[in-house]
Amino acid sequence: MTTSNDRYRPGYHFSPPSGWMNDPNGLIQWRGRYHLFYQHNPYEARWGFMHWGHAVSDDLLRWRDLPIALAPEPGSPRDDGCWSGVAVNDHGIPMIIYTEVRGGIQLPYVAIGNDDLTTWRKHPHNPVIAGPPDGLNVPGFRDHCVWREDDWWYQIIGSGIIGQSGACFLYRGRTLLEWEYLGPLCVGRVGENDEMWECPDFFALGDRYALVLSPLPLNRAVYLTGRYQSHRFTPEAHGEVDGSRDFYAPQSFVDERGRRIMFGWLREARDEATQLAAGWSGAMSLPRLITPRADGRVGMTPVPDVEALRDSHISRTLHDLPPDTLVVLDDLHGSMLEIAATIDPGAAREVGITVFASPDCKEETRIFYERESGRLVIDRTRSGNGYTDALSTALPLAPGELLDLRVFVDRSIVEAFANGYACLTARVYPTRTDSDGVALFATGGAARLLSFDAWQLSAVMQRS
Ligand code: FRU
Repeated sequence: MTTSNDRYRPGYHFSPPSGWMNDPNGLIQWRGRYHLFYQHNPYEARWGFMHWGHAVSDDLLRWRDLPIALAPEPGSPRDDGCWSGVAVNDHGIPMIIYTEVRGGIQLPYVAIGNDDLTTWRKHPHNPVIAGPPDGLNVPGFRDHCVWREDDWWYQIIGSGIIGQSGACFLYRGRTLLEWEYLGPLCVGRVGENDEMWECPDFFALGDRYALVLSPLPLNRAVYLTGRYQSHRFTPEAHGEVDGSRDFYAPQSFVDERGRRIMFGWLREARDEATQLAAGWSGAMSLPRLITPRADGRVGMTPVPDVEALRDSHISRTLHDLPPDTLVVLDDLHGSMLEIAATIDPGAAREVGITVFASPDCKEETRIFYERESGRLVIDRTRSGNGYTDALSTALPLAPGELLDLRVFVDRSIVEAFANGYACLTARVYPTRTDSDGVALFATGGAARLLSFDAWQLSAVMQRS
């Protein structure tokens, strides 16, 4: 077993063995095992020559690398290759539906897997759809979501209508090889600023449907919830899947226990030269459990399975957080941590946790609730190398409502979950070796800590 010598390489989030990784693809539980495929450039840590990397896990946490599943045709230029898609079980046969790009043209392809999903053969019948719908001027035609409904296969493909908005187009087929166009499942509104909807993910959620999108140029994952009738989806509400661009192109699947689980790509937030020098780029988010909520929001929490990562534990009981005073936790240091805190924000203007803190707190990353904006914030202006900005997502706490915060720290990742629905991810690159402290703070008024637990987490992904 190798020990990581790159301090930024995640210890329990999946990252590629080497080279580049972007979107999660082909998520499926097959014969009990979880399979994670991903957009992959095995040659260097920047995008290009897209392959499908592959890893397998029994528990969603410990991933074992498998051989590359799909590769571009030999001699293909950098921009051609095997782009994003999904895996389905077609009456016992594993099938991948993805976008193959040849000569810059994006078309739907299928590939057939063997029994244990380790080898894949592109189907001779490809492409399975000849091109985008006739008469439409589209900026792209890629990324797939495929499901079963009334003895039919359905799929949507990400696209847009130039001059109008992002869109996704709906198809139906008796088999995965022949598809009939049914019209757009959904088209964005004019003036919405979306040019292209990447990686659409569509599924039933409680008594509604959810359409998860990665729109360009927004470059952030959002969701629409609404009604699905007569092959049209009518949005009624919307929200952010994650408030940060560092989480993108999520895909979800339903596991054998019936849980809808989502992974997203955590892109790097440092320059290309540094990524190339590191030899690897990109990580997967923790698996997120997607649930319907009575308030209409999409519920997003880490799957309970991640609790298996917990090692040594510390806790605090009831505690006042005096205004403008840092409560340093002397017995808690680390770069792979889970922190769970329930806080009554009281009169505080901001209240939260600082991680990756140097003893003088000159270097630190702050995760907090900001009352005035009603937002969850990660401030990485003093995090170290990489982007220095503040990220945020909506967290509108009602008067008297408690802040329920869970923060996962993993070497260059901070993944925060609040109150069952707000998610915010930041890639950070602390420079100091002593930037491993944790503190609690409130500003502008007192808050009260109702519970606090923290765990050291195990490095289950041994990468060098
Ligand atoms: C999203 C995306 C997809 C595309 C893939 C190419 O990050 O741009 O639209 O299929 O990545 O790697």
